[in-house]
Amino acid sequence: MSEILSIIDSHAHLDYPQFADELPEVIERAAALGVTEMISIGVRLDTAHKPRQIAEAYENIWFSVGIHPHEAAKDPQACDYDAITAFASHDKCVAIGEAGLDYFYDFAPRDAQATSFRTQIRAARALDLPIIVHARDADKDMADILEDEMQKGVFKGVLHCFSSGAELAQRALNIGFYISFSGILTFNSSEDLREIAKDVPLSRLLVETDSPYLAPPPHRGKTNEPGFTRYVLNRLAEIKGLSEGEMAAQTRANTLTLFDRMKPQQRAGV
Ligand code: NI
Repeated sequence: MSEILSIIDSHAHLDYPQFADELPEVIERAAALGVTEMISIGVRLDTAHKPRQIAEAYENIWFSVGIHPHEAAKDPQACDYDAITAFASHDKCVAIGEAGLDYFYDFAPRDAQATSFRTQIRAARALDLPIIVHARDADKDMADILEDEMQKGVFKGVLHCFSSGAELAQRALNIGFYISFSGILTFNSSEDLREIAKDVPLSRLLVETDSPYLAPPPHRGKTNEPGFTRYVLNRLAEIKGLSEGEMAAQTRANTLTLFDRMKPQQRAGV
């Protein structure tokens, strides 16, 4: 009999149109793969009600509110501290973000990205919520901002969908951050990423899909969905020399430690 797992997808965009017609089925398929809870991630304040509504509709889903760096110049509330903190007061809001820096696409000027990011760190710190950080091709500025903000006052968070370099990973770990791996970890070309994962302490690892993007094999190129966290978990377990069950329990405990407002119901038989 295959092992019964209880995995949390710590990062999915469940309000995106790819899921609009079949969210109940997506959630059922996730459960069949052992993915029992998920966090639906916000990317703009004017669409923040969408992940919130999903979290209100499903007992096993929570949400975050934040402004993605791609939206830092487009969202009129990208730096609206009061609006962000007000939205985050909801019972099922468990994090601020995703927020950060993306110098690969540069969809917003870098100073606008940084200002929005620092505003969201301030909100996370004030509310004692973790911040979910998006970093792409911005290793040095990201590490500098995180360290600078940490000097102003402690906050907690995760580098999500990690695909940066070893130095950023280390500097983030040094200030208490978690590192979350997505389907990228399973790609053939990701040997460097797997080397970095080997050095991340077990107590700081999370798993996610970032769905609907970045589906891991055997579904690469298709729409990603929360159930596929299972494939990320499987690969991470192999890298760390653990069983799937051990890695599921470890990443679950880490997720609930970081996102400490998540309160999953105890399920009979699990
Ligand atoms: Ni995302």
